[in-house]
Parts: sequence; structure tokens; C-alpha cells
Amino acid sequence: MAKLKVGVLISGRGSNMAALIEAATAADYPAEVAVVVSNVADTPGLKTAQDAGVATAAISHKGFPDRESFDRAVSAELEKRGVGLVALAGFMRIQSPWFPAHWKDRIINIHPSLLPAFPGLRVQQQAIDAGSRISGCTVHFVTADLDAGPIIAQAAVPVLPGDDADTLAARILRQEHRLYPMVVRWFAEGRISLSGAKVAVAGVPKGATLLFSPDP
Ligand code: GAR
Repeated sequence: MAKLKVGVLISGRGSNMAALIEAATAADYPAEVAVVVSNVADTPGLKTAQDAGVATAAISHKGFPDRESFDRAVSAELEKRGVGLVALAGFMRIQSPWFPAHWKDRIINIHPSLLPAFPGLRVQQQAIDAGSRISGCTVHFVTADLDAGPIIAQAAVPVLPGDDADTLAARILRQEHRLYPMVVRWFAEGRISLSGAKVAVAGVPKGATLLFSPDP
């Protein structure tokens, strides 16, 4: 069966993008990264993608008069490559409402907190400052509301005494690299369905391991 073509949007390091590319090297993985688009030309993630033999495009938002015209150019690049799912992976450019409307139900994002707690930026520091005992990451559908679309899956990690934003971010990132390829697989397998603001994933075992922090 033809693999789902995924377009990954990045602005920086691209470690989640690299996790998706790596997952897609498995013969039985049902998706492939068809193109990586960055709004920052000299970002390390683009080089990582190129080294892995993945097509890339750098489209600077600075060359466009407004958000929507930039978004339309990005979209054209994705469509040129036959993309069926857009995965935002550290894409730090706020999009016009046109983009998530155009890619409705075919655009997902990964965010380093347990949404709806801590949308926005510097979220690991926000979790520490709030005294959270547990944090994690969320993969969600993208809508016009920032970090607020329907939640598909989350992974939780403890916030440990002595954590700073960097140690917590590193712990969360390890789980991001597991979670994102898993969700893309589910999407490609047609197992994710959306009903209003709720997402159902078919074929996953019911029940999950509890995470206590501190662990009693
Ligand atoms: C990741 O932690 C991702 O969850 C976060 O940026 C980092 C990108 O790292 N995204 C957001 O904060 C979006 N709101 P990466 O470039 O190595 O994948």
C-alpha cells in the first residue's frame, strides 16, 4: 500500500523531525517524510533532513507581506509533494487561520506540556514555576486557536526536585520522540477519528499505567 506522505514544518533543531524520519526507515512504517519545510534558512534541522536524503525547502516568512501569503506558499510546497498530513515539529511561526482551515483534520502539532496546561512558550519553566509534579508532551490537531486543538495522545514524565527547564525539557523530549512517530503511524493507519473536540484512537489497549509523582 502507498505510504502516507508527511510534510514536516520546523524552525530549529529538528529532533522531532529526525525521529519521524528515523521511524519511517522501517519497512513496515506506513508513512514517509516527503518534505521538510523551514521558515529559517540556516537551521540545523534542514541539514539533518538533507543528510537523510529527504527533500527540503526553506521559505523565509520575511519575503511575504502578511502571514497568509507566507502560509499559502508553504502550503503550495507541501501540495507539490503530495502531502497528506502536516506535522508541526518545533515550528515557531504563528499561522494565519487560513492554514489550519485549509489542512483541517490533516495537521498535527507536538507541544512540550500536558495541554491544556501551559500553552505558549517557555512551558517547561512554567510547569516548574507552578509546582507541577508531572508534566509531559501532547500531540494534538491544529486549529486556529494556538495549542488548543483536539488532543490525540499525551506522554507524562515526573517533574523531579532540582529540575530546571533544561533537565525537564530533555526528559520530555525523549518521550516526544516516541510519541510523535506513534501518532503519525496511527494517523496513517486510519485509526484516529475526530468527533467534535474529542479524538478516538481505534485498536489501542484500554487502560494505562498510572504515573505517581512523588512515587508513593
Ligand atoms: C519540541 O520540544 C517541541 O515540542 C516544541 O519545540 C521543541 C522543538 O524541538 N514545540 C513547541 O513548543 C510548539 N509550541 P525540535 O526542533 O528538536 O523538534
